[in-house]
Amino acid sequence: MSHSRKKIAVIGAGNVGATCAFVLAQKKLGDIVLLDIYEGFAKGKALDMSQNGQVLNYDGNLTGTSNYEDIAGADVVVVTSGFPRQPGMTREDLIAKNASIVQQVGEGIKEHAPESVIIMVTNPLDLMTYHMQKVTGFPSHRVCGQAGVLDSARMTHFVADAVGCSEEDVQAMVLGGHGDTMVPLPRFTTVGGIAITHLLDEDTIDAICKRTASGGGEIVKLLERGSAFYAPGSAAAVMAEAVLNDRKRLIPASAYLTGQYGLDDVYIGVPVILGANGIEKILELELTSDELTSLQNSGNFYKSQLNDILGY
Ligand code: NAI
Ligand code: 2OP
Repeated sequence: MSHSRKKIAVIGAGNVGATCAFVLAQKKLGDIVLLDIYEGFAKGKALDMSQNGQVLNYDGNLTGTSNYEDIAGADVVVVTSGFPRQPGMTREDLIAKNASIVQQVGEGIKEHAPESVIIMVTNPLDLMTYHMQKVTGFPSHRVCGQAGVLDSARMTHFVADAVGCSEEDVQAMVLGGHGDTMVPLPRFTTVGGIAITHLLDEDTIDAICKRTASGGGEIVKLLERGSAFYAPGSAAAVMAEAVLNDRKRLIPASAYLTGQYGLDDVYIGVPVILGANGIEKILELELTSDELTSLQNSGNFYKSQLNDILGY
């Protein structure tokens, strides 16, 4: 009998990785393997979450490991291993530290889960996603990055707050890099199908866009130790679900561009269709010249960082 259960590997059992695994367990998607350099840390978290299976009505099929052989045959690999930002630190400060972790993790995935779809979370997100694609040599549609689901969810929350409505009725669209150059798009952000440009004044919308772009930093400042993890871990789990269940979700994600939006050979946040094959389609929205310039500036910023810092 062939095995029909899906297998999901989550690399890094820290705040984001453990939260992602916890959300995935509740979605009952398959067997979950948590891998961390600290074996006991991964095993302890997996056991704790397994023991929660009865309480929250899911199967306790989570295991912890530090051995890449245990991710063999994974359908999806979510990569959260890496250092988070500390107060005063930009995402870019993390580049050198996290690039070597991504190198090591990528080699493990390439050897043991060569058919997987990789969802990157490690920051700086768009650079680490590019780096992972190069390290594994996977086709670019099988390597994508989580940023847009989180950044759009942040914008959604701020819009819901300003309108005085439920988050459920808001659909936001945030493109560009996961950093200061991100591009929130009010024209493509709706409440109950109505563009927010019809519901909120310009100053309010501007303030929402600015708060969205610095959304991660706001939480880093408040927490004083580490960065956000509930919404980031959940966002990565939603992407994993889209792949595992071939959901064809239309969401913003960091994808490899080959000329779309006038950008080439860079990973940046754009609207995509995410399904069993990973990024199945990149959608090219008709942007105003200001919107397009912002997106191109964001893409070119990361292109120069790939070149200057990572030597690509
Ligand atoms: P954390 O410090 O809680 O967890 C990171 C884990 O990675 C630790 O358990 C550590 O032992 C593990 N690790 C380190 N090197 C490893 C290696 N070589 N192999 C396997 N595991 C290794 O950090 P947190 O808060 O979970 O954040 C993780 C990463 O995700 C950071 O880079 C952070 O900036 C990023 N992040 C990205 C977001 C996004 O939207 N893309 C949102 C939130 C965080
Ligand atoms: C965030 O946006 C730090 O990337 C992380 O919360």
